[in-house]
Amino acid sequence: MTLHRLREMRAQGEKITMLTCYDASFARLLDSCELDCLLVGDSLGMVLQGQSSTVPVTLDEMAYHTRCVARGNRHAWLLSDLPFGSYQESLDQCMRSSVALMQAGAQMIKLEGGGWTTEAVHFLTQRGIPVCAHLGLTPQSVHALGGYRVQGRDADGAATLRQHARELSEAGATMLVLELVPTALAAEITEANPQLITVGIGAGNVTAAQVLVLHDMLGITAGKLPRFVRNFMATGASIEQAVRLFVSEVKSGRFPDNGQHGF
Ligand code: KIV
Ligand code: NA
Repeated sequence: MTLHRLREMRAQGEKITMLTCYDASFARLLDSCELDCLLVGDSLGMVLQGQSSTVPVTLDEMAYHTRCVARGNRHAWLLSDLPFGSYQESLDQCMRSSVALMQAGAQMIKLEGGGWTTEAVHFLTQRGIPVCAHLGLTPQSVHALGGYRVQGRDADGAATLRQHARELSEAGATMLVLELVPTALAAEITEANPQLITVGIGAGNVTAAQVLVLHDMLGITAGKLPRFVRNFMATGASIEQAVRLFVSEVKSGRFPDNGQHGF
């Protein structure tokens, strides 16, 4: 997979598939199911480490899991999360942390937030590092946001999200995760920014791509699943079947269902 091909898919309206991945075995399996993108998400703090948020995850841990995934992956586009505290300090620190993930095997780095991140996105993209931004519910800011809830419901919040998305696109971001935002707003942002490959999670089926946390869609995550998740193991007899079902349901536009999974 290449960025050129992903842009082509976005332009042609072919839905792009992405799941999180943290190790070589799953990377091999997901890649063999022709998933378009793998994200080494800092959600590994919760699903692998048992932490209650992504805040404690370190850059060394992200680099380690990125190396593991890169060894198992052959075709999929590989993104890796800059963890909390590894890019907020300065452009220098952001560049250094991004280099660490790229050298571990990432082809694109992801960072959270809008406004102040515009400068960092410009800095990285000018220096040859493709960037995925992340707006809406940004889990590294969960304590500041006051919990895991839908963002951009009110007019002010929606206007800020629209503005941040435009700024990030102009700064050179090529992908943008929209997490827990109303479907109508995700549709507006997707239409207003043709250069951005929008990636939805809890944002309806209107974005160019869809992502889920692997352990959520395989039904491994304990407790009540968020509304936007579907357990693809409920009907699949094997992990491979569940992943192939996710791919076909996203490609055909059947997942997510705006009524059942959207806001
Ligand atoms: O860390 C993660 O898994 C993510 C996705 C949910 C977008 O950032
Ligand atoms: Na993340």
